[in-house]
Amino acid sequence: MRKKIILITGANGEVGHGLINALAEQANTPDIVVLDIRVLDKAMRAKVHEVKVGDILDTAMLETLTNEYEIDAIFHLAALLSTHAEFNPEQAHRVNVQGTINLLRLSLEQSRMREKPVKFIYPSSIAVYGLPDLNTKAASKPIKEREYNTPITMYGMNKLYCEHLGRYYARHYRQLAATRETHMIDFRCVRFPGLISATTVPTGGTSDFAPEMLHAAASGKPYAAFVREDTRIPFMAMPDAVQALLKLADAPREKLSQLVYNVTSFSPAAAELRDLTASAFSGAKITFEPHLQRQNILDTWPAEVDDTAAEADWGWSPQYDLLHAFEDYLIPTIRQRYQD
Ligand SMILES: NC(=O)c1ccc[n+]([C@@H]2O[C@H](COP(=O)([O-])OP(=O)(O)OC[C@H]3O[C@@H](n4cnc5c(N)ncnc54)[C@H](O)[C@@H]3O)[C@@H](O)[C@H]2O)c1
Repeated sequence: MRKKIILITGANGEVGHGLINALAEQANTPDIVVLDIRVLDKAMRAKVHEVKVGDILDTAMLETLTNEYEIDAIFHLAALLSTHAEFNPEQAHRVNVQGTINLLRLSLEQSRMREKPVKFIYPSSIAVYGLPDLNTKAASKPIKEREYNTPITMYGMNKLYCEHLGRYYARHYRQLAATRETHMIDFRCVRFPGLISATTVPTGGTSDFAPEMLHAAASGKPYAAFVREDTRIPFMAMPDAVQALLKLADAPREKLSQLVYNVTSFSPAAAELRDLTASAFSGAKITFEPHLQRQNILDTWPAEVDDTAAEADWGWSPQYDLLHAFEDYLIPTIRQRYQD
């Protein structure tokens, strides 16, 4: 009999670390197998059953996973994030789209083998939105899932298309074949806002100015944010992002009226983030030097998203609002990190 596991791709990233920690604390969780192109950080290794170092584009390697394990759920986190993707769009397309198809296919094969759908949990992003101009952004109510799905970045396009691919593999796979698939996959997706972690410093994202500001202030370094002071996009503290993934994964299928859900916590202007950071770290030197193109991308992302569907269907509610995120999570944990 094959061992039942949970597979996490991109496990050595920011979200992966938080997810491994949270899953390792849960009772009755199947063993975790992680797959990342980089080796898993040493501190995390005792919490997982097996570390596979490999590329999600390597289908032969993925096949060995299928043969070795019964995969109960996949958290497919591996991706090239928005800024990295914009420097190398074709590679981003390969990793973000072909890589996701490879994992969707693996899930389908597993679903057939065990005659039960594999849960496929996919983090999408507010990058799927593309508001036409700042006036529209300022005048908009919180944006719903199906509004303004006209991204201007390769990453946003990749994420939006993968949401559709998830729907295809969950509901319409090979719909013209003589025999219909009887066991498709159970695809569930959250669209994350910018995530702020107290324990890891991000790279490659367009919302990175918020965590970069905090980590720089805590380590006594000056920081020039690449945005205007009035820039507003939604954010979330990392523990809430991890809870969103776990809560959506646990929700009864019949309660889910859609496959893709917005989740959000707070939407401060960059100047508010600066003020909160400066009041916690008295010597903080934070300035604003907007980068024209990165700013242009941020101006197409919504100031607020509507997450009422997630609240209604699976009880989503963030633990941290802006002040609590700073006072109870970010400041104490980041302070500790740079004191050690
Ligand atoms: N961090 C955010 O603010 C944010 C916001 C919205 C959505 N997301 C999504 O959440 C997921 C996790 O994000 P994160 O912040 O942990 O990103 P991250 O960049 O910290 O981690 C991504 C991980 O994927 C791995 N990876 C990249 N290419 C790979 C490949 N070809 N094969 C195997 N592994 C590969 C990287 O080594 C890295 O460990 C991503 O899908 C991202 O798009 C993140």
